[in-house]
Amino acid sequence: MNQSITLRKPDDWHVHLRDGDMLAMALPATAENFRRAIVMPNLTPAVTTTALALAYRERIQQLLPENSNFEPLMTCFLTDATDPDNIAQGFADGVLAAAKMYPANSTTNSATGVSDVSKIYPVLERMQTIGMPLLIHGEVTDKHVDIFDREKIFIDNILTKLRADLPELRIVLEHITTEDAAQFVSGAGANTAATITPHHLIINRNAMFNGGIRPHMYCLPVAKRERHRLALRQAATSGETCFFLGTDSAPHLRQEKESACGCAGVFSSPVAIELYAQVFEEEQSLEKLEGFASIHGPNFYNRPVNEEIISLVRSPWQPPESFMVSGNDHVCVFGSGLELNWRQEE
Ligand code: DOR
Ligand code: ZN
Repeated sequence: MNQSITLRKPDDWHVHLRDGDMLAMALPATAENFRRAIVMPNLTPAVTTTALALAYRERIQQLLPENSNFEPLMTCFLTDATDPDNIAQGFADGVLAAAKMYPANSTTNSATGVSDVSKIYPVLERMQTIGMPLLIHGEVTDKHVDIFDREKIFIDNILTKLRADLPELRIVLEHITTEDAAQFVSGAGANTAATITPHHLIINRNAMFNGGIRPHMYCLPVAKRERHRLALRQAATSGETCFFLGTDSAPHLRQEKESACGCAGVFSSPVAIELYAQVFEEEQSLEKLEGFASIHGPNFYNRPVNEEIISLVRSPWQPPESFMVSGNDHVCVFGSGLELNWRQEE
């Protein structure tokens, strides 16, 4: 039995760092555990332009310790009114690493997202030309569609056409939750990839209703049936280069999750690499962890792999229950009820 694992330092290709006090709480866990992270733009107001992304990057950098080599990779939030010249300039200048498409009202702070993908074809055509990745929250928002079907219907009704119309556009389908998504991405060729979160590898939809309503298990896209969880584990541990690490760590204050209308999102960044290691060990695929966590992502984004090495040691522990934000405000940690086998060496 392995007692330690070493791998190139991972990157997180999908994280919510927030702003203000929440940013100050969330940033250290990401900056310590990951060399780079793709930072989501769904602030209020959203990060819709290159200038806003640059200002947000500066707020992040100001909170980093002097000796940190963490690199925030910024994204901008697409709207029906996005100016192709503005984001192309941001990409050329190295301010923007990608652009994110949220269908309007699909999730937290997305009311000003894209109302219909056909409205932003000029932006997407430009992104295709310059090689700028498009990151997609892949759910339809029609309230008549069952929430557990919204990812599959998005693939069938929107993504399949988009993929065919713009075959060279680099697309990341974010936080996939279904066997359908894993199959689509696996068969869609070299310009299509997907991130997979630790929580979607660990819970199925029962976790939200285990003896009562469990708001800390609620995220979007919502966890699906067990067969989907198993398909995601298969995809993540397959060694296929189209699948890579993206935590979708998304902190909300405890009271905003434990509410009559609780927010979607789980905070996993402090324990994410340990959670992934647990899953890969359970799937007898620890040798595939480095590809998923540290190699496939940079290859897709045309960036160098990290040279720094981390070690995980077998040393069972329980993650902390929560992190303090300010005053009495806390954020609960996903995985805090679990005993984890692997712990990162300081
Ligand atoms: O669970 C989620 N939380 N899913 C998202 O798409 C957004 C995120 C957030 O920002 O809270
Ligand atoms: Zn997200």
